[in-house]
Amino acid sequence: MSEAKHDLLVIGAGPGGYVAAIRAAQLGMDVACVDREERLGGTCLRVGCIPSKALLESSEKYHEALQGLTGHGIGLGKVSLDLATMLGRKDKLVADLTDGIAGLFKKNKITRYTGTARFEGPGKVVVTGDGGPVTVTAAKVIIATGSSPTPLPGVTMDGDRIGDSTAALAYPAVPQHLIVIGAGYIGLELGSVWRRLGAEVTVVEYFDRILPGTDLEIAREALKLFKRQGIKFVLKARVTGARLDKKSVTVDIAGQEPLQGDRVLVAVGRRAHTEGLGLDSLGLELDDRGRIPVNERFETAVAGVHAIGDVIAGPMLAHKAEEEGVACVEGIAGQAVAIDHGIIPGVCYTDPEIATVGRNEEELKETGTPYRKGVFFIRANSRARAIDRIDGRVKILAHADTDRVLGVHIIGAHAGDLIAEAVAAMAFGASSEDIARVCHAHPTLSEAVKEAALAVDDRPLHA
Ligand code: NAI
Repeated sequence: MSEAKHDLLVIGAGPGGYVAAIRAAQLGMDVACVDREERLGGTCLRVGCIPSKALLESSEKYHEALQGLTGHGIGLGKVSLDLATMLGRKDKLVADLTDGIAGLFKKNKITRYTGTARFEGPGKVVVTGDGGPVTVTAAKVIIATGSSPTPLPGVTMDGDRIGDSTAALAYPAVPQHLIVIGAGYIGLELGSVWRRLGAEVTVVEYFDRILPGTDLEIAREALKLFKRQGIKFVLKARVTGARLDKKSVTVDIAGQEPLQGDRVLVAVGRRAHTEGLGLDSLGLELDDRGRIPVNERFETAVAGVHAIGDVIAGPMLAHKAEEEGVACVEGIAGQAVAIDHGIIPGVCYTDPEIATVGRNEEELKETGTPYRKGVFFIRANSRARAIDRIDGRVKILAHADTDRVLGVHIIGAHAGDLIAEAVAAMAFGASSEDIARVCHAHPTLSEAVKEAALAVDDRPLHA
């Protein structure tokens, strides 16, 4: 068995792991990164954020060409769908971006191992790949192995007609009737893609609302808008099973009539991926949700072993993992570590987008926090009217006594970009008055954020 030694070994080349490796190289460490996949970038780049955004963009363009341009005086003739080309564009984007990370690894002199990593003790990892096993020793190891889709009891996935998000990124034809289980980020984003491309889409959700955890006022508006797009919802419905018949699939729901379709997307959450890592050889115990417990420096209970991203507590988001990767490595290098987990934004890339940061109204009520609320409807924003994207609202929640911004929730076009201002403001401890007094360019959608800040003090100018 061949052997190798590095200062740092990162297990997992997703957004958490590959960014940690790059930062470690910048700080002068001899760093290696192992991933079992040939393509670097993890779930996010290969089968998650990036390919889904490619399809969201393509399907939006198709839908717009079909029905969104006549009001602008643009006629296109017959619009047709070439799904193979659309999927090919997505695959090329993934190939380009994952190649880009391989290039960054080269540039930063990061050693790559392709294979499955398994601890054989603290600081000792065996990588099993095509080239035979390699024993890698490293004073520091970061576990960044991400997450995998949570299976649903009673639902056997065949990876094709009953599958997870990976399958839904590559259906070879537009489904007749796609049944989506779970009204979270994945279900709504990929449900939107196939709806725009012509499928009948039914989303089945356990709770009486969509997007659990998102500010309720925003989630309610989203539900109304998605219904208007023709997506059907069955709420308060617990899926108990799914069966494959010759031509159709049947989804069983507790106490309700079963649903029939031709494809099922199971999107009921993801769980930390720690299987096969040999954590028992370290004596490392997981929490009640199978995640690796860490302290604020991302150190596990075992000296020299760190963990970041989806395998630890917190939202399963690429940008959260990236921040943690950088902070963890800087901590290893002896620098200060400071991440404010209270201001990690979340974005659902539906149309319109939904973006949130900080506390939602329900949480403020539950904790008895006194607050004031400013809401601005996007239809009153002149740029939104010019671009024909008038749906949505910006909602700012500020402390009633100090006016400090506690949460910002946006549903509307480009919400995912607009939220950056709110995150920056909250990072600097801004008040709603601070946002209201900043000059925002006209005409831009960002003026809606300023107006919502003015509305906290009951003085919006255009409402
Ligand atoms: P999720 O946790 O966002 O939503 C899962 C939904 O399934 C919940 O609404 C839940 O109530 C429902 N559910 C669970 N069991 C059910 C049952 N038996 N019957 C009916 N409904 C049931 O999980 P999702 O959408 O799978 O996403 C996984 C992770 O990936 C999330 O943590 C999300 O943050 C992340 N993600 C983020 C994206 C983004 O940032 N834009 C995009 C895609 C995923």
